[in-house]
Amino acid sequence: MKAIVNVDSNWAIGNGDSLLNYIPADMKFFREKTTGNVVVMGRKTFLTFPGPKALPNRVNIVVTSDRSWSAPDVIACHSLDELHEQLARYDTNTVYVIGGSSVYEQLLPECDTVYVTKVDSSKPADKFFPDLDKKEEWSVVCESEENEHNGTKFRFVTYKKGDFNE
Ligand SMILES: NC(=O)c1ccc[n+]([C@@H]2O[C@H](COP(=O)([O-])OP(=O)(O)OC[C@H]3O[C@@H](n4cnc5c(N)ncnc54)[C@H](OP(=O)(O)O)[C@@H]3O)[C@@H](O)[C@H]2O)c1
Repeated sequence: MKAIVNVDSNWAIGNGDSLLNYIPADMKFFREKTTGNVVVMGRKTFLTFPGPKALPNRVNIVVTSDRSWSAPDVIACHSLDELHEQLARYDTNTVYVIGGSSVYEQLLPECDTVYVTKVDSSKPADKFFPDLDKKEEWSVVCESEENEHNGTKFRFVTYKKGDFNE
């Protein structure tokens, strides 16, 4: 299982229901990684999508405790156990956790790779991703050159679980 996330300099990912940074190249990166695959998200993240509608050309799985909740082209799971039953149908390498903070937190222990878009900014925020630079089980295996959008600098950084320095 993999996670994909956009963080700022403080590993912040959102404020209320909103993303902190909109960077077209990052949206493209997200689309390229997840298209044709399975995306897992919390109900609050689903509600931030335009529509809100399922992401096209992907299997959309939403976790919610609300058994009456549904949306077209979305598989709803009502617990982590139900999610795991559902995910057993797919190759784990095709599963991407896409947020938000509560779902990242619960599923990070099951992830082996995290694609982090690191944005060089610091804005008011109340939702965070665990700081992987402070977790010794995670290593940076790939880092892009610095990119820029409207004066905001960002990098694509891949983390993998395990020691890759040997
Ligand atoms: N920067 C990024 O890459 C990125 C990506 C995604 C999201 N975000 C941001 O993250 C924030 C949203 O994160 P969030 O933590 O507030 O919400 P969230 O994780 O998207 O959704 C939380 C909801 O998911 C459901 N849920 C979570 N765990 C569950 C479980 N074990 N069993 C059943 N249902 C479960 C619950 O829904 P019910 O209330 O229906 O029970 C819960 O209220 C927003 O600010 C968004 O913009 C940022």
